[in-house]
Amino acid sequence: MSARTALITGGTSGIGKATAELLHARGYRVAVTGQGAESVARARAELPDEVLVLQSDVRRLAAIDEAVSEVGQRFGSLTTLFLNAGVSRPMTLETFDEAAYDEVFAVNTKGQFYTLAKALPLLSDGAAVIVTVGIGATRSLTGNSVTAGSHGAFLGMIPTLALELAPRGIRINAVSPGFTDTPMTRASLGRTSSDAAAAMAAIAAKNPFGRLAETEDIARTVAYLASDDAAYVTGQEILVAGGAGLAV
Ligand SMILES: NC(=O)c1ccc[n+]([C@@H]2O[C@H](COP(=O)([O-])OP(=O)(O)OC[C@H]3O[C@@H](n4cnc5c(N)ncnc54)[C@H](OP(=O)(O)O)[C@@H]3O)[C@@H](O)[C@H]2O)c1
Repeated sequence: MSARTALITGGTSGIGKATAELLHARGYRVAVTGQGAESVARARAELPDEVLVLQSDVRRLAAIDEAVSEVGQRFGSLTTLFLNAGVSRPMTLETFDEAAYDEVFAVNTKGQFYTLAKALPLLSDGAAVIVTVGIGATRSLTGNSVTAGSHGAFLGMIPTLALELAPRGIRINAVSPGFTDTPMTRASLGRTSSDAAAAMAAIAAKNPFGRLAETEDIARTVAYLASDDAAYVTGQEILVAGGAGLAV
């Protein structure tokens, strides 16, 4: 079997980091990116030594070029691309912030699209592309309209991208987490760790399975979509949310 290789954007924290650990454990050569020096340093210390950790901001096309070029030199080609770098900036119509609005779309929509475009020459025929969207893109959550719209914009591209990539046997699918226990979730739910813990307990109490998602729940779904078990699956969205959002 030829070497399996993966590039994970936003792989220095949360869902991306858990996916890096899982794919590495399953024999992939893995590269991850993050944008902050601190998270990159932490990921270098915490991820297995063989995982390539790069600092690269998906808002900058030149930075995407550099990261893709570095991965190309190290791996030669990619069998998996996990477009997962993302930010969440809660705001309402009354509390909107133009800079935060632009940042959310620059990372969650434009950054994903351009990373796919720039990485395309590296993708081997039959490769798998997975994109993190989120249950919020299709369900209501107060204050989430802008983040939801940025993820929903990419979700809307997926059917077209799937058909554009199909002649090379490349599949593209979205994974949509429900509330997942990550640094992003904790930061967005409370100013103090006890506020965040109380908000997470309230969310868990309303979930049909009685808990938030663990990062590993999402990582295992990404690993499935990356694998040959999903060889005939493209253009789809899988919600990993423990039944959240199903009730009328
Ligand atoms: N957690 C949830 O409940 C949930 C639910 C639905 C969807 N999601 C989506 O899942 C994805 C991952 O979220 P998470 O919860 O795992 O968050 P997280 O722990 O905050 O991780 C986000 C990752 O994205 C990276 N990133 C942010 N801005 C970037 C940029 N400009 N360039 C490159 N990398 C950047 C971060 O790097 P730095 O740390 O260096 O900034 C980090 O590695 C996001 O798209 C998020 O919207 C999360």
